[in-house]
Amino acid sequence: MVKMPTEVKEALLKQKPIPIATATKDGTPNVIFIGLMKILDDETLLLADNFFLKTAANLSENPRISVLCYDTDTKKSYQIKGSAKVYKAGPQFDEMRKWVHGVNPKLPAKAAVVVKVEAVYDAMWGPSAGKLIV
Ligand SMILES: Cc1cc2nc3c(=O)[nH]c(=O)nc-3n(C[C@H](O)[C@H](O)[C@H](O)COP(=O)(O)O)c2cc1C
Repeated sequence: MVKMPTEVKEALLKQKPIPIATATKDGTPNVIFIGLMKILDDETLLLADNFFLKTAANLSENPRISVLCYDTDTKKSYQIKGSAKVYKAGPQFDEMRKWVHGVNPKLPAKAAVVVKVEAVYDAMWGPSAGKLIV
């Protein structure tokens, strides 16, 4: 696990929606937009599964996940890679439901997806493009 630098967290907080990529066990990729994403701490993100279909199927067989963001103010972009754990009961689920229903009580709030950050890469153009940050 790694700690997300402040500028990465700020980019995530500013961007909506955020593209999230998962893959099947055999590597077929799938990208979705997510609006409900929370930073739990420097190493952990919480995603709200309201409408995941292929994403939920992918996460049930392959926990690997990637998140992309771009900060239009700082002109910085980051790729985050991590591993996700899906909770359909318990404290993580309860926290997700409380948060999501505070935003909109009609949302299904099916599962909490907790992402442990394992690497952050520079995704801006230029000489550092694609290079590991942490
Ligand atoms: C702007 C926007 C925000 C979205 N936010 C969420 C979200 O927070 N949670 C969610 O479950 N789906 C969200 N969706 C829906 C997903 O992008 C996607 O439609 C859903 O996961 C089904 O696709 P899949 O079969 O690839 O999983 C959002 C879609 C858009 C366009």
